Amino acid sequence: MSNKASTQKNKMWGGRFADQPDAVMEAINASISYDKRLWRQDIAGSKAHAAMLAHKNIISKQDYVDILKGLDQIVDEIETDKFTFSAALEDIHMNIEQRLTEIIGPAAGRLHTARSRNDQVATDTKLWLRDVTDHTIKLLTDIQKIILKRAEDYADAVIPGFTHLQTAQPVTFGHHLMAYYEMFERDKTRFIDARARANESPLGAAALAGTVYDTDRFMTAEALEFDRPSRNSLDSVSDRDFALEYMAAAAIAAGHMSRFAEEIVIWMTPQFGFVSLSDQWTTGSSIMPQKKNPDAAELVRAKTGRINGNLIALLTVIKGLPLAYSKDMQEDKEALFDTVDHLELALTAMRGMLSDLKANTDKMRHAANAGFSVATDLADWLVKSLGLPFRQAHHVTGALVKYAEDHNLTLDQIPLAEMQKIEPNITEDIYHVLTVDASVAARQSYGGTAPDQVRLQIKERKLCL
Ligand code: ARG
Repeated sequence: MSNKASTQKNKMWGGRFADQPDAVMEAINASISYDKRLWRQDIAGSKAHAAMLAHKNIISKQDYVDILKGLDQIVDEIETDKFTFSAALEDIHMNIEQRLTEIIGPAAGRLHTARSRNDQVATDTKLWLRDVTDHTIKLLTDIQKIILKRAEDYADAVIPGFTHLQTAQPVTFGHHLMAYYEMFERDKTRFIDARARANESPLGAAALAGTVYDTDRFMTAEALEFDRPSRNSLDSVSDRDFALEYMAAAAIAAGHMSRFAEEIVIWMTPQFGFVSLSDQWTTGSSIMPQKKNPDAAELVRAKTGRINGNLIALLTVIKGLPLAYSKDMQEDKEALFDTVDHLELALTAMRGMLSDLKANTDKMRHAANAGFSVATDLADWLVKSLGLPFRQAHHVTGALVKYAEDHNLTLDQIPLAEMQKIEPNITEDIYHVLTVDASVAARQSYGGTAPDQVRLQIKERKLCL
């Protein structure tokens, strides 16, 4: 049973077709519902292409002038919501070309000389993603600026540092925050690298083999601010690495944000109570009046799901595709757009939460004191002051921790005489290293958690931001 899609054959490629497509054919084929967001790039690409065609006398100056005028009118129509996008015309490229034909007549048909939708769509998507990448990098920089500020606020605030989510050693909250600065810095460089590799123009590769016209691909590349034209026409129309690289960098950045978001969720539980978010960044429960839920952090944490999924989706589409263009490649867009939308939303939410977040430094310090967090400092004292081998110091410390645990004491509350029963050479001096402040202050190695070192990290990072 056939169910015809429209009353007309496709105006752009319908020449050899006697009949119109089935409605489902149209539905599976059309991308206009989502690729219309490439309209600006499509028009920019067409303008650059038309200028080159005129410069090389492939089209007349008059046609060029008419094409530019028509394209400007289309910009105006789209900006003012007067443009009708049609699924019968498949995609943004044919929607714009058809409208150009209505506005300027046959000269519109000359615009598609020496190009194809295959190089056109690759060009448009690259142009779009280039701007997006710059914006993503800016959002990451915004977050880094906030982290620098918050790390300065909390350079001395002591929290328990964890391994295995078990209390390990005290660290400073500023140090902890700066760890995320470093992750976002690497994320940024991944986006910067991806952008640089992607910045070659596919325009003029035509369908797959290049073109018989005497074109100048360097001219269009330059006009569109690409570094150069891509070198191989087959590769130009079938490369989607640029999308994959953005999506891979996005997946890693989303992973970092999800770790940060998870920590915010943990820190906000009443059991931890390390940080709070204002009403602006929390939600209430419809049944439990006491609750303040970190929904934004949870959703940032969850965004990795779709962002990873989109990467896998496109990797799978590309796998096994023969050269050159296949319609499979149209499936790049929704995945890419979704990644961009949700990564940027998550980054923006993270930026908001980080500015809003307030630390409860008393609770943090209290927690840092628990769990024998200075046990390593005790062992290090035994090594440094008594010359014990570290393994033996570890053993002695274990015995002292056991004593403290049995007697419900912290390490600095064990009487000297009791300590000396376990290791006779221990002196009064040991108590100096048994506070969390002494513990963090002593970690002066480069990149360590001492407030001085954290301030140094902040200073170094400020210089290159
Ligand atoms: N809408 C198509 C896409 O996004 C444009 C390229 C179509 N090319 C073709 N030969 N049918 O991939």
